[in-house]
Amino acid sequence: MGDLIGICDRLDYLHWLGVDAIWLSPIFASPMADFGYDISDYRAVDPVFGALDDLDALITEAHRRGIRVLLDFVPNHTSDEHPWFKEARSSSVSPKRDWYMWADPRPDGSPPNNWRSLFGGSAWELDPASGQFYLHSFLRQQPELNWRNPAVRAEMYDTLRFWFERGIDGFRIDVLWLLIKDDQLRDNPPRLPLYTADRPEVMDIVAEMREVADEYSDRVLIGEIYLPIERLVAYYGSSGGEAGRPGIHLPFNFQLIELPWDAAAIAGAIAAYEAALPPHGWPNWVLGNHDQHRVATRVGDDQARVAAMLLLTLRGTPTLYYGDEIGMRNVNVPAEQQQDPARFDSLTGGRDPERSPMRWDATPGAGFTSGDPWLPIGDDLSAVNVASQQATAGSMLELHRRLIELRRSESALTVGNWAPVSAAGEFLVYERSFDNRRLIVALNLGQHQRRLDLGSLGAGTVLLSTELDRQGEKVSGATSIRGAEGLIVALSNQAPSSVGPSSESSPSTVS
Ligand code: GLC
Repeated sequence: MGDLIGICDRLDYLHWLGVDAIWLSPIFASPMADFGYDISDYRAVDPVFGALDDLDALITEAHRRGIRVLLDFVPNHTSDEHPWFKEARSSSVSPKRDWYMWADPRPDGSPPNNWRSLFGGSAWELDPASGQFYLHSFLRQQPELNWRNPAVRAEMYDTLRFWFERGIDGFRIDVLWLLIKDDQLRDNPPRLPLYTADRPEVMDIVAEMREVADEYSDRVLIGEIYLPIERLVAYYGSSGGEAGRPGIHLPFNFQLIELPWDAAAIAGAIAAYEAALPPHGWPNWVLGNHDQHRVATRVGDDQARVAAMLLLTLRGTPTLYYGDEIGMRNVNVPAEQQQDPARFDSLTGGRDPERSPMRWDATPGAGFTSGDPWLPIGDDLSAVNVASQQATAGSMLELHRRLIELRRSESALTVGNWAPVSAAGEFLVYERSFDNRRLIVALNLGQHQRRLDLGSLGAGTVLLSTELDRQGEKVSGATSIRGAEGLIVALSNQAPSSVGPSSESSPSTVS
């Protein structure tokens, strides 16, 4: 919850850090029941964030620095204050009635079926005037649009065009896998959202959205999709001429958020994901977002450095959540200051702990505001802020900047192959390669020193360590890796490589 001019003021920082694109959570007109994920006008900027002119200025200034701007498209539901819903609710014969999902109660007056809101309780809300219920997968202030209605689709696709024409480079699409529900409104089996998620018909919408994006050059669609990998990759669409159906460019891959911090589990997930991707599917990895606990809280401050190296050395587009680059942790939010209406995680205060303001400096408002911040700033401000980390060698921020810089300069990291080397206990090792260039990434997910043995490959040079004090170090045969250290080593013995299980010529590791 900041403003667009504030983002403009920080574009030089993003450019310095090496960021290619920014995704803004919803900035559209909204009563803010769910912090903008309840939209009352898809084509207007909410005054809390600024004006349309400010967005135009942000697009211009970002593009001037080579930074793309992505908005958040929320197609599953509107606000209950959207004029469409007000009209739909005004009468059961309103032309907008069928833009939303209405159903009669069961004979005993209870909701039409057993569908649950992801924020708790029944997904159905009674509209006393008509005696019907309307569907909401989230808050009752977020009524579900009816994506089976062609008029809804046409209007929503025109909304995408409206923003594309203003120069927006792409969209993150909210809850894409939930857009279509069972047409017979069948009860879900216990704990299985069989009839409310990942319905086959959603693929038609995915293809149509992609066709809209393809009307413009060089735009991207990224989908929020929480599904197992084998289902997630279906959202890439299928290639294959006539029979092929386009998908979105990047179905968000949340495995790094969901997996335990365990080398074997992570290595297995990377390999399974690489194997499941369709030939045209470009991978992506996400370390954090506004709905999940911060990475430094999930894995600890030291391991968050290793996690940064993991994110920025895997194959595919990395997504970083603001503040993770300085190691911000979840902030404790006292009950009276809580903002998040979703109470699915009441023990930890909903999603507020990961939404605390960005810390630019150590002043009372953290350089984010001169007024009262909308959530507490947190109590470790003196070290965890941009200004002090820019001035501190070896800081989390410097590590991020150097990782991004290395990633940009090494084709092996940006577009090269990924191949597993070994994963045992707390030690994860893989290889990235491009042409004859071979890089070994060795990550110590534990606290004890480990030994990286380059085996038959013999020798290499350290390009970067999470500790930042080993750059240029020659590695001959073997080297030790400290607890919570990650190392990127360029092999001097260059040889072509390909994605796949490690071969005999690959390095081996001893822990
Ligand atoms: C997505 C958003 C989340 C929001 C929900 C409802 O999961 O990321 O913040 O509350 O959709 O729109």
